[in-house]
Order: sequence, then structure tokens, then C-alpha cells
Amino acid sequence: MSVVITGASGFLGSRVLRHLLAEETREPVAVLGRGSPDTLRERVEAAVAWLDGPPVAPDAWRRLRYVSADLTRPALGLTPEQLAEAADGAREVWHCAARLHLAGDESELFSTNVRGTRAVLDLAERAPDAHLVYVSTAFVAGRRDAGHIMEDDLSDADGFHTRYEETKYTAERMIRAWTAAKGRRAVIARPSLLVADRPAPAGLPAQPLDYVARLVDDTLRPRTGPMPGLPLRGGVLPLRLQGDPNGAMNLLQADYAAEAMVRVAAAARARTGCGVRTVHVTHPREVAFPAARDALRTLYPGLRLAVVPTVRNPSRHESLVIEHAGHFLDFGAQHRTYDRTHLREDVGDLPEPPDVDADYLSRAFDRAGAHRQAAV
Ligand SMILES: NC(=O)c1ccc[n+]([C@@H]2O[C@H](COP(=O)([O-])OP(=O)(O)OC[C@H]3O[C@@H](n4cnc5c(N)ncnc54)[C@H](OP(=O)(O)O)[C@@H]3O)[C@@H](O)[C@H]2O)c1
Repeated sequence: MSVVITGASGFLGSRVLRHLLAEETREPVAVLGRGSPDTLRERVEAAVAWLDGPPVAPDAWRRLRYVSADLTRPALGLTPEQLAEAADGAREVWHCAARLHLAGDESELFSTNVRGTRAVLDLAERAPDAHLVYVSTAFVAGRRDAGHIMEDDLSDADGFHTRYEETKYTAERMIRAWTAAKGRRAVIARPSLLVADRPAPAGLPAQPLDYVARLVDDTLRPRTGPMPGLPLRGGVLPLRLQGDPNGAMNLLQADYAAEAMVRVAAAARARTGCGVRTVHVTHPREVAFPAARDALRTLYPGLRLAVVPTVRNPSRHESLVIEHAGHFLDFGAQHRTYDRTHLREDVGDLPEPPDVDADYLSRAFDRAGAHRQAAV
């Protein structure tokens, strides 16, 4: 038996691969990704080797086989023979790869996240005994900003904040239809926003908070160039953010998410029958706005953040934030919580993750800053 994985060069996929390599099954793993097999190997091995635990035996790397594959190309850019070879004897097909740009180009998002998933389903059809494990997102709930989201909920009735959310929703729908039509089994894992607090060297996968950290840096640190940031006036910069001061967001440690997902997949192997099992891979407690505010205040002592329902007469800094971070602010205004019944059933012996508090977030934002500076 063997395992197939896409997205192993990414922030989450590299963590999933590390956990798969630590499993005792010692099966071969076909790693599908962009670039030549040699460059793909270099990137994936660097990303996986750098991570903290679980321990990987030195000979585990020999289980990996690298296959050049691009989600945006018909049949992933593979010949029928290559597809058959990649799928041969697979017991699990992990689809982690995606385009994550929240405000990205619509056709690129669709081509990667929807058509690309269709191509992965075609590959999975060549492995009739394989479970599909699709990495979705808790944000398929879209603009449903309040209430308790159940793991089986999937609706577009409230619309979406971003095209990214919509493409992940569409891919989930497609997978549900595929399992029903073909009598297949799939796990859909829905992580919330993933974070890490350990500085990563340049060239390794970035985390979504890098984007926020870059925005804060560009806005607040004096720079030269076409969009200079302004120095703090009198040592203090008041900054109003449009949103809900009582809003909260679900953030989860990426290492925890990867371990939980690999355990969820293992639990699915023990089940019989076809269909989809959807699992919220989320934190039991949401992070309220004051935690993020306090974390940013540690890094930028002069920053005075306030969340207000409407920003009237925005300053230059406030306009920049509205322009570049509007999507993140939408997420911070949520009041929803995520049901975790399936998660607890499947990984009941995994202790709950520690809180993502202001201390954790200040390390995460700093980690993001360190990553960026090293990359310059
Ligand atoms: N990060 C989060 O907070 C978060 C939260 C919820 C859900 N998720 C989901 O988790 C999954 C992994 O996310 P991540 O954080 O690991 O993202 P990431 O760091 O941006 O990695 C994305 C991965 O997808 C691959 N990829 C992108 N376009 C591709 C293409 N056209 N063909 C083949 N591979 C392609 C990338 O390969 P390259 O190295 O070649 O670019 C990379 O391996 C995604 O499905 C995402 O929707 C992530």
C-alpha cells in the first residue's frame, strides 16, 4: 500500500507529511507538486526536516517519490501512465495543495482549487481502495458570522467573504457528489486559521499571519519607496479598525492541526461504508480581539488600536489597513463557533491545544517578521 499527497511543500502540508513519515506503516509516499522532481524534493525535504517532531527515522526519506504535478494543468500535467503509477496501490490520497490568496484572481483560484481538486478525484478513481483526505477550511461557512457551525453544515446561503472561501466550498460540494456517485469514502478536514510561533528561515513556507505582519510593518515602520510608512507621531499612533470590538476568531496551532488530521484519517480507515466525514479541526476557544491588540502592542509599543463599527474620515494609515487587510478584519468580526463532535470522537486521546493568547500571538507576529526580514 502507499500514500499520495499534494501540497507537501506548504505550511500545513509539510507538517502533515512529517506526521505521515512518523507513522509505523513505513509505506511509500508519492509527493505530487510543482517543479522538477529534484527541486520539489529539495523544497519538501527542507520544509519537513526543519519542523519540530515527531521524530522521523533517517531511512524514512527513502520512502518518498517525487512527481511533477500542477493542479492547473489537465490531468495534473501527468500522462495516463504517470497517473496510474502515482495511484498504484494507494490507501490514502491527501489533497492539501491549494491557492490561498484571499483576494486572488478569480480564475486562478478556480483553476487551482476547483479544477485542481477535480483532477485529484480523477487520480483517486485509479485507486479504488483509497480514502480521499481533502484539506478544506472552516471558512467554507462564508458570511455566516454567528451561531454554532455543525461539521455537516455546508451552505452558500449567506454568501462568502472571499473567492477563496467560495472555491473551497465548491470543492467540498464536488467531493460530496463524487463519493455519492462513485460509492467512495472521503474525509474533509476543515482547519481554522493556522498559526505557528517558531521563527522559520527564509525559503521555508510562510504562514498567513506573515501577511498581517507585513502590512503592519509597511504601515508603521519608516521606509523609503513608493509607499512610505510614517513614523509614530509623538511616539503614539492611534489606529481605528473597522469591525466588531466583541468579535473573535478561531486560530489553531498548525502542528496540532496536522497531528489531529493524520489521526482523523487513521480513524476513518477503521470505518466501513461510503460517504464523507467532515471534521472541524479548530481550537476549542476563539481568540478575542484584545489578545491580538495586546500582541501587536508588544511589538509596536506606540500603537493604539481600537475597533469601531465605522471608521469616519480615515487617516492615511487607516486607509491602508482598510485597503489591504479588509478581509482579515471581516474574519475578526465573527461571533461563530465550530462544533467539534467528530474531531473529539476521532482524536479523543489527543489533549486539547494550549490557548492562542497574546503571548503566543506576539511570538507568531514576530516569527512572521523574522521570516520576512530573512527573506529580504
Ligand atoms: N494556512 C492556513 O491557515 C489554512 C487554514 C485552513 C485551511 N487551509 C488549507 O490547508 C491547505 C494547505 O495550506 P497551506 O497553509 O499549507 O498553504 P501554503 O503554504 O500556501 O501551501 C500551498 C501548497 O499548495 C501547492 N500548490 C499551490 N498551487 C499549486 C498548483 N497549481 N499545483 C500544485 N501544487 C500547488 C503549493 O506548492 P508550491 O510550493 O509549488 O507553491 C504548496 O505546497 C490548503 O488546502 C488550505 O486551503 C490552510
